[in-house]
Amino acid sequence: MNTTYDFTGRVAFVTGAASGLGRATALAFARAGAQVALADLSTDGLTETARLISADDGQVLTLTCDVTSEDDVRAAVDRTVERFGRLDVAFNNAGIEQPVQSAADTAKDDWDRILGVSLTGVFLCARAQIRQMLAQGGGGAIVNVSSGAGVKGFRGQAAYAAAKHGVIGFTRSAALDHAAAGIRVNAVCPGIIDTEMIRRFGDTHPGGRAGLIADEPVGRLGKPGEIASAVLWLCSDDAAFTTGTALVVDGGQTA
Ligand code: NAI
Repeated sequence: MNTTYDFTGRVAFVTGAASGLGRATALAFARAGAQVALADLSTDGLTETARLISADDGQVLTLTCDVTSEDDVRAAVDRTVERFGRLDVAFNNAGIEQPVQSAADTAKDDWDRILGVSLTGVFLCARAQIRQMLAQGGGGAIVNVSSGAGVKGFRGQAAYAAAKHGVIGFTRSAALDHAAAGIRVNAVCPGIIDTEMIRRFGDTHPGGRAGLIADEPVGRLGKPGEIASAVLWLCSDDAAFTTGTALVVDGGQTA
């Protein structure tokens, strides 16, 4: 049980829940008492996250879902509501990395793929969640994943940075659109967090993993649980006056 926040009786929806930040946040919601719907492309990874939650006595639903598909996303939200009766909080976190390549070398297919998952996927999920929250009444809280690459440029990451900047623009605007209905929409901007994505990325990064660590002023990579803590705070009643913000959690990387 997470003793900082109490999400007992609330229903959480997490995308990219088969790995990394999504898995850590789903576990944190479950430990705080929430019923959790886990969405991801990876059925095996979802099964493992569900196993970890069930070991903690949490209530969980797994949903194989491609966040770039309107039909998949709508079905995933519908199944969550069928199973748990409502939807209160969501973490739209599914995303993919970009190989290091200059803007000039970026293929349109790569651009479309990266924006499709990391920006359009966030839009489709948030839209379906907001529609559900409006229909059921009582507000809600949504956190979309951006990045340090959502607040500054990164060499070799033009498509990824465009997607992550886009997430913040979408988040701020959706927050304004739905503030009066009590639906808060925020973004979290992680620094370099030790996940499978960063292990893959470190293999292709010119400086390797050591170079990534050197980019972090605090001298280490972040831990997935450190992003989960920020997401739970943003979704909690303690953050009731916080909407339309992009919370940077990055060990000082963008300071
Ligand atoms: P990860 O690679 O460990 O997990 C990403 C998950 O998203 C995987 O389970 C994958 O199957 C899922 N996914 C990918 N495409 C999908 C799709 N079309 N539909 C449904 N699920 C899909 O990555 P990590 O590190 O946990 O990253 C999560 C999010 O955080 C990403 O959006 C990433 O861009 C962002 N982020 C990560 C940082 C890091 O240092 N790890 C830093 C800043 C942002």
